[in-house]
Amino acid sequence: MGNEGAAPSRGAAEGGLPDVLTLKDLLKGRVAVITGGAAGIGRATAEMFARSGASVVVADVDEEANAATAAAVADLGAESLAVTVDVSREVDVERMIAATETEFGRIDILFNNAGIMLAEDADAVSTDNEAIDKTFDVNVKGVLYGCKYGIPALRRSGGGSIINTASFVASLGAATPQIAYTASKGAVLSMTRELAVIHARENIRVNALSPGPLRTELLMSYLDTEEKKQRRLVHVPMGRFGEAAEMAQAALFLASDMSSYMTGANLQVDGGITAAYVTPE
Ligand SMILES: NC(=O)c1ccc[n+]([C@@H]2O[C@H](COP(=O)([O-])OP(=O)(O)OC[C@H]3O[C@@H](n4cnc5c(N)ncnc54)[C@H](O)[C@@H]3O)[C@@H](O)[C@H]2O)c1
Repeated sequence: MGNEGAAPSRGAAEGGLPDVLTLKDLLKGRVAVITGGAAGIGRATAEMFARSGASVVVADVDEEANAATAAAVADLGAESLAVTVDVSREVDVERMIAATETEFGRIDILFNNAGIMLAEDADAVSTDNEAIDKTFDVNVKGVLYGCKYGIPALRRSGGGSIINTASFVASLGAATPQIAYTASKGAVLSMTRELAVIHARENIRVNALSPGPLRTELLMSYLDTEEKKQRRLVHVPMGRFGEAAEMAQAALFLASDMSSYMTGANLQVDGGITAAYVTPE
């Protein structure tokens, strides 16, 4: 095992990009860790990274579905490892990073993507402490722990790319409130900027990916009627929910040397929702 010979990420300014880019070479020799890898964005990204030449570690609380993602990655011809992790538990995250280095010898890409949105999360008056704490433990501390243990590992690899999944709600208010979730994603966004600035000269890039509303389990289990779906879709210029695979494409861009001069950015992949005032009929 191991990818000891893999090059740390290099930008075009250093002549790091080849003349001809093929998908299977974009992440060749790189090792990627993806939290929330069992479903939705995480699963789609695991497969995308595998197709792009990376070895992929998937980490999730859902042991069975996580193992299924690792098997799908292996079917694509990539090396894979499944680690059962609750990102809100610091010891789990430490073990995730250690297991990756033991198996593959390095880490080049860390996708802090696991997140939750609770049904009982509503407005400031009615949301209880339990829901607030649980949301922050997973969505905020989970990202922070990933960086706490991931950054030293990226340093040992000579640098790399961290991607933190935020959300369009970090930039837009909604009259259908989920106050804890919204605040947690704002924290992810501001944390990403500071991380990016602190670690910029260590060849570590840190960017946020802000998805728009997606047709994944997280949102669809909540938008369980046509009326609720339409209440959102009227605000999306493209008139449809996004797909997990479309977030995987964006994550690939941020993970690869294609984004070599990008750090501290908020990549909004949202069907135009954050640009909209009046949408088409
Ligand atoms: N779906 C959307 O509309 C949308 C929009 C903006 C942002 N996001 C964000 O994208 C990310 C991925 O969401 P998704 O739509 O793919 O959701 P999803 O529910 O399909 O997948 C999330 C995965 O995270 C895992 N997970 C949950 N808690 C965990 C924990 N404590 N430790 C480890 N794994 C855990 C789940 O088991 C699941 O496999 C989340 O951070 C979410 O907040 C989603």
